[in-house]
Amino acid sequence: MNLKKAGFSTRAIHAGEKQSETGAVITPIYQTAPFEFKNAAHAARVMGGKEKGYVYSRGLNPTTEELEEKIANLEEGEAALAQGTGMAAISAAIFTEIKTGDHIIADEVIYGSTYDLFVDLKKFGVDVSFIDTSDVSNVENIIRRDTKLVFFETPANPTMKITDIKAVSDVAHEKGAKVFVDNTFMTPYLQQPLLLGADVVIHSATKYLNGHGDTLGGLIIGPSEFIKRARHTAKNIGGAISPFNSWLILRGMKTLGLRMDRHNENATSVAGYLENHEKIKKAIYPGLLSHPQHDLAKKQMRGPGGMIAFLLEEAREVPHFLDSLRLCTLAVSLGETSTLIQHPATMTHAVVPREERIRYGITDELIRLSVGIEDVEDIIEDIEQALKQV
Ligand SMILES: Cc1ncc(COP(=O)(O)O)c(C=O)c1O
Repeated sequence: MNLKKAGFSTRAIHAGEKQSETGAVITPIYQTAPFEFKNAAHAARVMGGKEKGYVYSRGLNPTTEELEEKIANLEEGEAALAQGTGMAAISAAIFTEIKTGDHIIADEVIYGSTYDLFVDLKKFGVDVSFIDTSDVSNVENIIRRDTKLVFFETPANPTMKITDIKAVSDVAHEKGAKVFVDNTFMTPYLQQPLLLGADVVIHSATKYLNGHGDTLGGLIIGPSEFIKRARHTAKNIGGAISPFNSWLILRGMKTLGLRMDRHNENATSVAGYLENHEKIKKAIYPGLLSHPQHDLAKKQMRGPGGMIAFLLEEAREVPHFLDSLRLCTLAVSLGETSTLIQHPATMTHAVVPREERIRYGITDELIRLSVGIEDVEDIIEDIEQALKQV
């Protein structure tokens, strides 16, 4: 079957599949570090890049290769590279593109460790400007001749603001800069940045792609030429994914469409409930008409997703509310079957200095909710009983 023309879930299940010599229907886990060469001449050809072959799982592994082909197909990119974590993928992608003296534009609202990585880049002589990319005129005003790349998440973790991928890509490309989009919150089921003009897409596969909270993983998708360079850089950094973790993510991705439909549905109900609750100051969700970029969300996303931010009236109510929950799990991470809840100011974004954090909208009363795929009445009932305690 021509998989290029097949629907999303057919591709999520079958893209990248190879026929195994044993006839195994499910991809085997090639849990090996090295691969045996046929003979010395074969080794010389493979090592010299004259023939494709498996050498060592830090560089290439057949189970991981299937994962790479599957995500490249779903994001409609030319090629992909898998890494051991989302941060390993982000680091490898950045180090592939950047050298001392370059300028990077990064959105000011990004995952805490990504922010921390960009701050660290300053010590290698890379100039980083943190701005609000959701207003494209900010990008136009700050972009320079030596700007190598623009990096953002959309929706942004944790404030759920949205950046116009096409508009920012147009501005960046005019100045010769590349656009890297962290598509973790959306997955290719709900948003395809490459089709909107971005150059490279990055995922923490730990989240929705795997979907079950039982492994870490990271993915980079982009043009073959970039992925070839990234594979070289990543091999030397050494953040390879284990074949078993690739296999878990492959298994998770087969149900991605089904799960995302349910995440959309559940989060839409929970966001509506939160928005109308007297003890909630504000609910921020792309599917709500009150979201300031609701129209842009409808244009570039196929659904609002499973992530919600909301504000209690007072920051002092937060610990008591979180401790009162019984079903929603107090934990970082997101995008899994279970509903997870956390407080960015003291958890995922604690590394961002307080004054900056507050300026960016990551205030002390803000809570991030990753709505799971349990029965939505149970999720709402749990939030209701916890809100009664504050
Ligand atoms: C949007 C986003 N990108 C990247 C990462 C980093 O991924 P990982 O934890 O797999 O290294 C996270 C982690 O929470 C995230 O939320």
